[in-house]
Amino acid sequence: MKQQIIEMLHMLHQGHIVSHMADLTEAEQEKLIAQIGALDLSVLDLEDAAEQRGKFDPLYAMTLEEIDRCRGQYTKTGLEAIRSGKVGAVLLAGGQGSRLDFEHPKGMFRIGVERELYIFECLIQNLLEVTRQAGSWVPLFVMTSIDNNLETREFFAKHKYFGYSEDNVWFFMQEQLPTVDTEGRLMLSGRGTISTAPNGNGGWYASMEKTGILKVVRNAGIEWLNVFAVDNVLQRIADPCFIGAVIESGKVSGAKVVAKAAPEEKVGVLCLEDGKPSIVEYYEMSDEMRYQREPDGSLSYNYGVILNYLFHVGQLNSTLSVKLPLHRAFKKIPYMNGDGQMVRPEEPNAYKFETLALDMVRLQENCLAYEVDRSREFAPVKNKTGVDSVDTARELLRLNGIPL
Ligand code: UTP
Repeated sequence: MKQQIIEMLHMLHQGHIVSHMADLTEAEQEKLIAQIGALDLSVLDLEDAAEQRGKFDPLYAMTLEEIDRCRGQYTKTGLEAIRSGKVGAVLLAGGQGSRLDFEHPKGMFRIGVERELYIFECLIQNLLEVTRQAGSWVPLFVMTSIDNNLETREFFAKHKYFGYSEDNVWFFMQEQLPTVDTEGRLMLSGRGTISTAPNGNGGWYASMEKTGILKVVRNAGIEWLNVFAVDNVLQRIADPCFIGAVIESGKVSGAKVVAKAAPEEKVGVLCLEDGKPSIVEYYEMSDEMRYQREPDGSLSYNYGVILNYLFHVGQLNSTLSVKLPLHRAFKKIPYMNGDGQMVRPEEPNAYKFETLALDMVRLQENCLAYEVDRSREFAPVKNKTGVDSVDTARELLRLNGIPL
């Protein structure tokens, strides 16, 4: 095993790890070799070429006005689905939140100023509004990573699940992928450990299967999964009207979207790609696409995604065999330097590899773009200050009457 790993490392131009190995004790070497043996090193061959995209077309979105007209009916259908146990929710909380620079799971961040109010708490309170209205629990699956699983579970337990039913919450862990420096070299996070990072939010369904959580979903007869990000404190989870609208439209998936603030806004836009639902990133859009308008004057590519999707479990099963594309993200990644000291960079220094939940949309037959009011449903906490920050999220929470 050791010899094979050494040969493979040389072949992958990772000779520095082999040299490092020589300085390790027998036990450290064994640990490192076992780790490398289990790691997916195919990321080291990842080409940095831009992904080949298909032909884009605008996708019709159900607007706020249209939703308002049918709100009663959609809500009734959504509540029925929840009551009959057909809806589950998946909280994506395995990210590292490196931009926020908070050393605990992001959901533990205290967003309250005068009072104790945490990001996780905001989410659970929003979900509780729905479960009270429905009179039944929504099974909640929380995706964590190896680094934040224990702390997340302990935090929920310490706060008595913020009033949620403990029996209806499951935690599972996503997988890790190696990180590399700007030269494409593996890094160390300890003497006998290769640095790894969570493999992105796109792996949630595959990780649910690997960890056995999908059995819970299947045994419970859950048909719809609402997947959402941890960092939007105004996130509406298992929103009955959204669920009802997707069911009544006969679609197999839905995405909450917000109208762009300006054509130049840096958001991924829901559209069609070769006739299938897809998300085009802002940097992939030509100016022609960016400013294209419909006959009524509205922007053709107007609706940005907010990482709140509804997927049909039946359709998801067929995607399990598909390999999602891997994206490289340039991040602040702590590492052990040549002198054996840990370095915590202030600026992005290395790459991690991620699959993205938005790429799962492309695997769906169709998708309902469902417009929501951004001032009521979109308050992401990405940065410490400035755009999409703690400050802007607090302002939006106050605007929605939530005391801080
Ligand atoms: P982001 O793309 O904002 O990544 O995650 P992040 O790691 O949380 O933060 P930065 O970029 O380092 O500052 C969007 C959502 O996807 C989840 C996050 O927890 C968040 O809810 N996510 C991200 C995962 O669950 N796993 C991952 O590997 C990455």
